[in-house]
Amino acid sequence: MTERVDIAIVGAGHSGAQAAIMLRQQKFEGSIALIGEERELPYERPPLSKEYLAGEKPFERIMLRPEAFWAERAITMRLGTRVVSVDAQAHRLGFEDGASLAYGKLVWATGGRPRGLACDGHDLDGVHFVRTRADVDAMAAQLEATRQVVIVGGGYIGLEAAAVLTKLGKKVVVLEALERVMARVAGEALSRFYEAEHRAHGVDLRTGIAIDRLEGRGGRVTGVRTAGGETIAADMVIVGIGVVPAVEPLLAAGAEGGNGVEVDAHCRTSLPDIYAIGDCAAHVSRFAQGARIRLESVQNANDMAATAARHISGLDAPYGAVPWFWSNQYDLRLQTVGLSLGHDEAVLRGRPEARSFSIVYLRQKRIIALDCVNRVKDYVQGRKLVEAGAAADSGRLADASIPLNALG
Ligand code: APR
Repeated sequence: MTERVDIAIVGAGHSGAQAAIMLRQQKFEGSIALIGEERELPYERPPLSKEYLAGEKPFERIMLRPEAFWAERAITMRLGTRVVSVDAQAHRLGFEDGASLAYGKLVWATGGRPRGLACDGHDLDGVHFVRTRADVDAMAAQLEATRQVVIVGGGYIGLEAAAVLTKLGKKVVVLEALERVMARVAGEALSRFYEAEHRAHGVDLRTGIAIDRLEGRGGRVTGVRTAGGETIAADMVIVGIGVVPAVEPLLAAGAEGGNGVEVDAHCRTSLPDIYAIGDCAAHVSRFAQGARIRLESVQNANDMAATAARHISGLDAPYGAVPWFWSNQYDLRLQTVGLSLGHDEAVLRGRPEARSFSIVYLRQKRIIALDCVNRVKDYVQGRKLVEAGAAADSGRLADASIPLNALG
């Protein structure tokens, strides 16, 4: 007979773990199984490219909860196992090893897999991702023998890794395909500031670079050949070129979606009794002018987990949280709130030379987002303005002597 749980949560990252925690907080008393492909108990992912890679925080300190927590709340862990199919009508999951599990409700919280390079040599030894603890452990084991690292991708992962590895004394080259770093999330002024910072720390940062192939000897990577015909030597290559949502089983089961699974304001997919949350959930956001988007962030994971848990518990509290995110590179703490995409004006507050400034993004005179570098006050106060969609005068916004909470 097939085993059955009331709630199956697939994916034991931030969103999956938080969904289980929130269900118990909502006094949900049914059975809960948290199913994860990785062997580890749920842990924080952001430190992987920061303190964990730097060796400053051991694994125990990045675990989301101590081991006893899960047992005390009767949250059953099924780790090191992969769900490969969903039968939405029968309410049943299929595992890689042929086992199956029936569920009352399913919460899909699988996040994404790191996008790989498609070129020759992409699978050589010494080519690494930064998505899981196992990824970073594998990298750390090879660091001592590494002098020069080539990082492909100038997004959050690539730049955070560049900052850590430079500090560890490695020679670092960053190759970004687009004309500027962090283009997916940041305005141009911020990209330029970060490019200059990395170069000042000795990183050989190049933009507008297409990669032809990875070169190797004896199965191990030795360099990266650019489309321009140059070979850049590398003992290690780190690939940080984004993530692909892990939603194949749900799409195969008939869920609406493509780039992620489509969800409504309660995180329900188009399939009965199936929710999707976190990086893989494509939702309509008022902070993106009503566009359907995916957000890859801890904020989104936690807030969507809470939304789904509340709905399962019979509460009507749709998702509407403002997006926020952070990135630590060197002594720079970047905090962003709102989504700057689609802005028609960007106002600088403070002085980049002083390494403390904010960029306020406006659309039709209303504040839609802020990027704050070492400027916590702007972030905290600006967040309220973004939530309210406040109108503000750009001249006054640029005057850093006027606190943001006096505007808008
Ligand atoms: N060669 C070089 N650069 C590339 C290539 C390529 N073939 N393809 C994409 N890029 C660049 C993109 O232009 C972008 O600047 O890689 C960068 C990827 O940046 P992100 O999309 O931010 O992805 P990544 O840095 O991998 O982060 C993945 O981890 O920290 C989280 O929130 C972050 O969810 C994100 C995830």
